[in-house]
Amino acid sequence: MHVLVIGATGSIGRHVVTQSLEAGHPTTALVRNADRARKILPEAAALAVGDGTDPAVLAAALESVDAVVFTHGSHGGPGEAERIDYGIVRDTLAATGRRPVRIALMTAIGVTVHDGAYNRSSQVHDWKRRSERLVRRSGNAYTIVRPAWFDYNEPDQHRLVFLQGDTRRTGSPADGAIARDQIARVLVESLTSRGAERKTLELIAETGPAQDDLEPLFAALEADPEGAFDGARDPDTLPLAYEPAQVADELDAITRS
Ligand SMILES: NC(=O)c1ccc[n+]([C@@H]2O[C@H](COP(=O)([O-])OP(=O)(O)OC[C@H]3O[C@@H](n4cnc5c(N)ncnc54)[C@H](OP(=O)(O)O)[C@@H]3O)[C@@H](O)[C@H]2O)c1
Repeated sequence: MHVLVIGATGSIGRHVVTQSLEAGHPTTALVRNADRARKILPEAAALAVGDGTDPAVLAAALESVDAVVFTHGSHGGPGEAERIDYGIVRDTLAATGRRPVRIALMTAIGVTVHDGAYNRSSQVHDWKRRSERLVRRSGNAYTIVRPAWFDYNEPDQHRLVFLQGDTRRTGSPADGAIARDQIARVLVESLTSRGAERKTLELIAETGPAQDDLEPLFAALEADPEGAFDGARDPDTLPLAYEPAQVADELDAITRS
């Protein structure tokens, strides 16, 4: 499985690249700065160089790719969530056309919280949720992973726990903790798991040893209903009927492609 990692030099993406290579997948990293990437990423990673908001860069990076892991993210500047968090997913899916590509998309715990202060100021949750909807409607096999707060783990929290329904909504580390390499493990292992297909999960770590095999955890999750926009058990906090016309059109276009 040839894997493309988008957001490869980021704090999660670099773990994804390493673990993908360790799993035996030829792995290409989409990076903006090749010199910096060479210092961060394993030598065995191939590089595709360019900005992910450029559809031509995405089209070239996607050649001969079987799977895409998205770990990219913006930093909250005006318009960035739409252009980067959402736009890169939209343009990647458009560039794959009708060719099936296995997708693992990282968003965030609390992504369905629409009325919180963070989303009101940044719209990051809404744009990430819209990117999830594009993935669900794209017709590709996918897993959507919503990590809890990075690196608040206690030293003995190695046991992975998958949740659904996005019910932890404080917008603080009280919602749960997860380490960056644990997130990468779930993303990479989901790519080859039949039980992980069409699943949306929140990811936290709790006290206990790490599981050797994630298959039972994936298999126990409720699948998103066939053709659904939202994850199984997600609250309806961003009704489609009130979405901007452009968003509705783009969702429609991906559904028909
Ligand atoms: N902090 C938390 O506890 C938490 C919890 C759950 C979810 N999250 C989410 O996790 C996401 C990523 O976090 P992180 O710590 O890994 O962030 P990060 O280290 O800043 O990584 C972001 C990655 O996205 C890439 N990127 C940004 N714009 C791009 C563009 N136009 N073209 C190509 N690549 C681009 C960056 O590339 P460069 O290296 O070239 O800049 C970098 O590789 C964030 O969106 C955040 O919302 C965070």
